[in-house]
Amino acid sequence: RSSSTCTSSSSSHLVRRFYSSETTPERKVTVLGAAGGIGQPLALLMKLNPLVSRLALYDIAGTPGVAADVSHINTRSEVSGYMGEEQLGHALEGSDVVIIPAGVPRKPGMTRDDLFNINAGIVKSLCTAIAKYCPNALVNMISNPVNSTVPIAAEVFKKAGTYDEKKLFGVTTLDVVRAKTFFAGKAKVSPSEVNVPVVGGHAGITILPLFSQATPKGSNLSDEEIVALTKRTQDGGTEVVEAKAGKGSATLSMAYAGAVFADACLKGLNGVPDIVECSYVQSTITELPFFASKVRLGKNGVEEVLGLGPLSDYEKEGLERLKSELKSSIEKGIKFANQN
Ligand code: NAI
Repeated sequence: RSSSTCTSSSSSHLVRRFYSSETTPERKVTVLGAAGGIGQPLALLMKLNPLVSRLALYDIAGTPGVAADVSHINTRSEVSGYMGEEQLGHALEGSDVVIIPAGVPRKPGMTRDDLFNINAGIVKSLCTAIAKYCPNALVNMISNPVNSTVPIAAEVFKKAGTYDEKKLFGVTTLDVVRAKTFFAGKAKVSPSEVNVPVVGGHAGITILPLFSQATPKGSNLSDEEIVALTKRTQDGGTEVVEAKAGKGSATLSMAYAGAVFADACLKGLNGVPDIVECSYVQSTITELPFFASKVRLGKNGVEEVLGLGPLSDYEKEGLERLKSELKSSIEKGIKFANQN
């Protein structure tokens, strides 16, 4: 285990004194899979987040190097690296937020569901440890297929008697990030000002961007343009997988998206009002038990799962079309958790 604290420069002392004031609580964030393609840049971005006071980096290999490297950055948080299952408990203890990008990514020609057999087992064992060592933490699930890994986590937590549906999140923020970027390009508006809800799930047609609710309105887009934008958002992951040609899937944009979502969770925990992000959570807004939609975050995690709002006819069709695939992915996850 490598552990280090930022101590020497006077600026880091100032930073630490400022943030140890009563207004910014201590928060421990743990990244599971921290030495991976997503894990490393995500560790960097979480190290830059002033809301984090302790950053625990866990992986089955390579974490001492990542932790030593990131720990030299002169920001508030203390960084510790943990490697191997025997250190997992120490990594998790006292965590407020656990982010999980552990598992294998896609290669060209693979769907997210093709990852199921490997990643389902990894997620199950990591969630078993979360139930034991930090049952109150908010869990941000990045490992694919998210449509199934979130139901697996829920089942593991139910069996352990620790399940709180307010604290389990499938990270779909990258779909929102892509929808915003692609919309901004077409509508000729600034990407940083755009808002687009993305609902449903996190794979292929289950990703349903609601461009009819996009703001700012910008130039009016034709039906064909909306169809093309929808398809590009749904296939955004595959676009990256193909461009990387066998070297994995989105890592940098995913790390950004994961950092945005974790920051929102931390703000919610700290009582900042009106923190709303899309996430794949336990839900009653459709007949499906898990569904991505806008969620208001608060001191206990999910404060409110927000409804879908008015949909265009095209979006209504997309919603009906995605339900059977999402339902079977959820059932597959539940079955795996209860059989293995
Ligand atoms: P990667 O292979 O580069 O890194 C994965 C890391 O997980 C490796 O460092 C590996 O050692 C670690 N790992 C494996 N088993 C572990 C275990 N039992 N405990 C802790 N760590 C373990 O993969 P990458 O590109 O970082 O992707 C990770 C996951 O994120 C994949 O499942 C991928 O499909 C998913 N993903 C999700 C996205 C989303 O939007 N939710 C977007 C992009 C990828």
